Amino acid sequence: AGSDESREVITLDPLVRDLAEEGARLRAAGPVAAVELPGGVPVWAVTHHAEGRKLLTDSRLVKDISHWAAWQRGEIPKTWPLIGLADPGPSMLTFDGPEHRRLRTLTAQALTPRRVDEMRPRIEAITAELLDALEESAGDMGRVDLKSAYAYPLPMAVIGGLLGIDTAQIPRLRTLYDGFFSSLTPGEDVQAIIGELAAIFGSVIEQKKAAPGDDLTSALLGAAEEGDSLSDQEVLSTVQVLITAGHETTISLIVSAVVALLTHPEQLALLMSGEVSWEAAIEETLRWDAPTTHVLIRFATEDVTVGDTVIGKGDGVIISYGAMGRDEAQHGPRASEFDITRTPTRHLAFGHGPHVCPGAPLSRLEALVALPALFERFPGLGLAVDPSELRNKPAVTQNELYELPVRLR
Ligand code: HEM
Repeated sequence: AGSDESREVITLDPLVRDLAEEGARLRAAGPVAAVELPGGVPVWAVTHHAEGRKLLTDSRLVKDISHWAAWQRGEIPKTWPLIGLADPGPSMLTFDGPEHRRLRTLTAQALTPRRVDEMRPRIEAITAELLDALEESAGDMGRVDLKSAYAYPLPMAVIGGLLGIDTAQIPRLRTLYDGFFSSLTPGEDVQAIIGELAAIFGSVIEQKKAAPGDDLTSALLGAAEEGDSLSDQEVLSTVQVLITAGHETTISLIVSAVVALLTHPEQLALLMSGEVSWEAAIEETLRWDAPTTHVLIRFATEDVTVGDTVIGKGDGVIISYGAMGRDEAQHGPRASEFDITRTPTRHLAFGHGPHVCPGAPLSRLEALVALPALFERFPGLGLAVDPSELRNKPAVTQNELYELPVRLR
C-alpha cells in the first residue's frame, strides 16, 4: 500500500548520470513508484504507459498546487531549486477544467497543424541559414557542437518569432534557462532567474501593448482587451510557458535523433534510401528518448488507487514520460532498443488528455525539416566523441545533453 514504510524509495539522481538505468528502476518499482526529488521532496512517479494514459485523464489529479499537502504545511521551501517547475505561475499548465480551456484555447488555435504548416517556409529558411553557418564555423577539422550551432538556435528562433521576441534577448535567455532547469542551481539563484525571466517577458508585453505586431503575444493581449479573457499576468505566464516548453524539448528531440541515428547507421541508411520515413524516425526518438523525462505538477484531490498503491489525498504525482517510453508491456520485449521500423509507435511523449502538448505539430515539423536537411548536407556526419562521453545536464525534468560534438565530414 502507499503508506507501506518498507517500500523502496527511488531518489532521482540530480546529476542525471544514467537516464536509461534510472528509467528501468522506476519501471521496476512501478506502475506508481515512490520517488524522492532533489531537495528531499517525496512524490509518486507514474512509470508505466497504460496507467499513465489513464491517470492523465483522471480528474482526481489536478494541477493546482494548493492541493499539495506538503506545500500547504509549509514543507516545500521557496528556495527549493525545482520550485519554478512545480509552481510555474498561473497558466494553462497549472489550471484545470474550464479555466484551463480558457487559457489554452488561443494558443491551441495558433498551433493547429494548418497554422503550423504555414510556418514551414520560415523553418526551412532558418534551417538553411544555420546549415550554411555550420559549414563556415566548423573550420578545417569540421568539428562543431551541433547542439549550440543547430539544435538550439532553430527552436529558439521559431518560438521567439512566433511570440515576437527580439532576437537580441536570446543569448541572455539561454543563460537564464540553463540555470532554471538545473537541479544544482541554488534556490536563491533560481528565484533571481525567475524574477529576471518575468522582467524580460514583462517588457515584451509592454512593447506589444504599445505596438502590437503579427505575433502570438499581441494576439493574446488583443483577446484580453476584447473579451477580458486573459489578464496581463496570464498573458505573461502563457508567453513564459510557451518559451520554456517550446525550446528545450525540441532541442532535445533533434539532439536525441542525431545521436540515435549516428549510433545506428543501418537505420540511418533506411532513411537516406527512403525505405523508412523521417516521421517514423521522429516518433521512435520521442518514444525511446523522451525529451521531457518527468513533468512535476499534479496533485491528488482524493485517494487514488493504482494496483496495490494508494496515492494519498494531497500527495504530489509526477509523470515519468522517459520511463514510460520504454515500457515493455506497451512496446514489447525490445522496448529498450531504438528501431525506426517499429509500427506503430504509440508513445506518450507529448502527454495525453486535456494537457496534451499543443506544440506537438510544431516540434514535429521542426524536426522533420531539420533532420533530413542536416543529413543531406553532411552525408559524412559523425560523432566527434565516443557515445559514452556524451553527458546529460543536471536537469532532472529534461533529457538534455551538455553538448553534441560532431564532425561534419
Ligand atoms: C505540454 C512535451 C514541444 C508547449 C506538454 C506536455 C508534454 C510536452 C509531455 C504535457 C505536460 C503534462 O504532463 O501535463 C513536449 C515535447 C516537445 C514539446 C516532447 C518537443 C519535442 C512544445 C512546443 C511548444 C510546447 C514546441 C510550444 C510551441 C507546451 C505547452 C504545454 C505543453 C504550452 C502545456 C499544455 C497544457 O497544460 O494545457 N509538452 N512538448 N511544447 N507543451 Fe509541449
